[in-house]
Amino acid sequence: MPIPVLARKGGLHYDAHISSPIGVARTGQGVSMARRKKIYEGKAKVLYEGPEPGTFVQYFKDDATAFNAEKKEVIEGKGVLNNRLSEFFMTGLGNLGVPTHFIKRLNMREQLIRQAEIIPLEVIVRNFAAGTMAKRMGMEEGTALPRPVVEFSYKDDSLGDPLVPEEYIIAFGWASQQEMDDIVSLALRVNDWMSGVMYGVGIKLVDFKIEIGRVWDNDFQRLILADEISPDSCRLWDIETGQKLDKDVFRRDLGNLTDAYTEVAKRLGVMPSNVTHAAAKPTLIN
Ligand code: C5P
Repeated sequence: MPIPVLARKGGLHYDAHISSPIGVARTGQGVSMARRKKIYEGKAKVLYEGPEPGTFVQYFKDDATAFNAEKKEVIEGKGVLNNRLSEFFMTGLGNLGVPTHFIKRLNMREQLIRQAEIIPLEVIVRNFAAGTMAKRMGMEEGTALPRPVVEFSYKDDSLGDPLVPEEYIIAFGWASQQEMDDIVSLALRVNDWMSGVMYGVGIKLVDFKIEIGRVWDNDFQRLILADEISPDSCRLWDIETGQKLDKDVFRRDLGNLTDAYTEVAKRLGVMPSNVTHAAAKPTLIN
């Protein structure tokens, strides 16, 4: 027997019917509210169970963290911008034939994604030396690399996501040799497209990080681009001025992070150029 419940979401009331009491919470007023199942909460995003098997809802938070969460802040509007920007990049890559987890954007902060088994690697592509590479190698930030460099970190906060050679990845069974070859070619395709798109709006793609997941398509397992692509996971410098338009603004206290991300969104036409912060705030989630 379906249980009618009154659910409240983003300021709108709607009726929902669910067929079992699982996921129903009683509020103080005795009203039942549907509660969706949280699958995982990360530093900048939350994953909820999706409406269909094999899907998740990915929610973008405003939380910004750096240095393995030693530095933390809530930056209003960041989640909204990253949701839109990740949609833009994933859609563009999908149109080129790069398989991604992105299905559709649901609202200001959420997108529907395909469930994937995440390979525990941060796949980093660098076109110019910056960040940990510049530090590790004693290079000046901004030095052009002779060719794009792909490197891997093992995703483990307690170890500080250490850089790992491919030998470790294969030996420890995190991915097979064939998968590593596919991951490198996928990462380079992403780099080519992203570099061109960013160059077209006067921005240099210095480096970026992606994550890869495994999905089953009928009897075949294949790799897809997962997680997000946003200024949280890229280094983006204005070509003319060298101004940083990415998370380094937060990491290095260089100014207002939302201004930087809004600039990227405006240049890409993801947000109209007359949008102000006030208007970009999430006011209604539908
Ligand atoms: O810090 P590092 O120089 O190794 O970062 C390389 C690139 O990977 C940067 O664009 C950074 O934003 C991204 N990255 C990330 N998440 C991490 C580590 C790095 O998105 N945990």
